[in-house]
Amino acid sequence: MTNLQLTAENKLKHFLTPEGLSAGLLTQILDKAETFLDYSGAQAKIKSVPLLKDKTVVNLFFENSTRTRTTFELAAKHLGAEVVNMNIATSATSKGESLLDTIRNLEAMFVDGFVVRHAVSGAAHFIAQQTAPHISVINAGDGQHAHPTQAMLDMFTIRKLKKDFSGLRVAIIGDILHSRVARSEIHALNILGAKEVRVIAPKTLLPAEIESLGVTVSHDLNEGLQDIDVVIMLRLQKERMTSALLPSESEYFNCFGLTEEKLKLAKPDAIVMHPGPINRGVEIDSKVADGKQSVILQQVSNGVAVRMAVMAMTMAD
Ligand code: CP
Repeated sequence: MTNLQLTAENKLKHFLTPEGLSAGLLTQILDKAETFLDYSGAQAKIKSVPLLKDKTVVNLFFENSTRTRTTFELAAKHLGAEVVNMNIATSATSKGESLLDTIRNLEAMFVDGFVVRHAVSGAAHFIAQQTAPHISVINAGDGQHAHPTQAMLDMFTIRKLKKDFSGLRVAIIGDILHSRVARSEIHALNILGAKEVRVIAPKTLLPAEIESLGVTVSHDLNEGLQDIDVVIMLRLQKERMTSALLPSESEYFNCFGLTEEKLKLAKPDAIVMHPGPINRGVEIDSKVADGKQSVILQQVSNGVAVRMAVMAMTMAD
């Protein structure tokens, strides 16, 4: 998959997964994102720059989204691009048009980039293989496979607050089995040199041979939180569960839900992250989600700058 993402000069052409990319290239995304943030005011602000003036970006979201779709739209607008949000529910997809025919028709409208979210793993990769050579494809989440810009905005947030990856122990907690975010974060953290990536989940919510991705495994939240610098919580992705994998949500919360008490087991300066949407009282207690160690809304804010960076690197002339 790696080569498809890169030009002959090893520049980013599509962004489909962090897997197989170099630490240098991921760091370039983070550094580029920094240039779009202005911290001189009381609050972080986004700098608008016309790097994609005269370009057209189509947001193709075949699955629901709040954060990703909106921040991609804002990012494209800050870069001066025209943005088209395809309404899939009212598009010809609902009349049986194939994905490839939809892409061919949009290409015929002289677009420059597709931001794609799809329930099928590999959908963005398929579009990148099939689309016209001048078009860039950015994966906004494909099935259980990858969510690369979420991983990069999480890396940006971690770097901003913890400075260096090399000493960090990061715990990813919850429904790893169905999580494209977890897979992309595991790849990105390992590429960027995190000391340890630990996954904490019941056996039923872990993929087979997860250790092969370069993680340590714990099935006990109390034990797993020891020495942790960054806590990343995941929601239960019930829409992807085809059988009962848990006795009940309340039992899951008792064993794997993050409460103030449990958070005390991590390092005192640990940060709490969540890609959203959060399910309060299922994987995270409100007091933690809204507490002073939570950086969940900073993640969302950073998403605009990071998506600007990825769009600029893939699409700017
Ligand atoms: N984190 C994330 O992908 O959220 P949305 O589904 O709202 O885009």
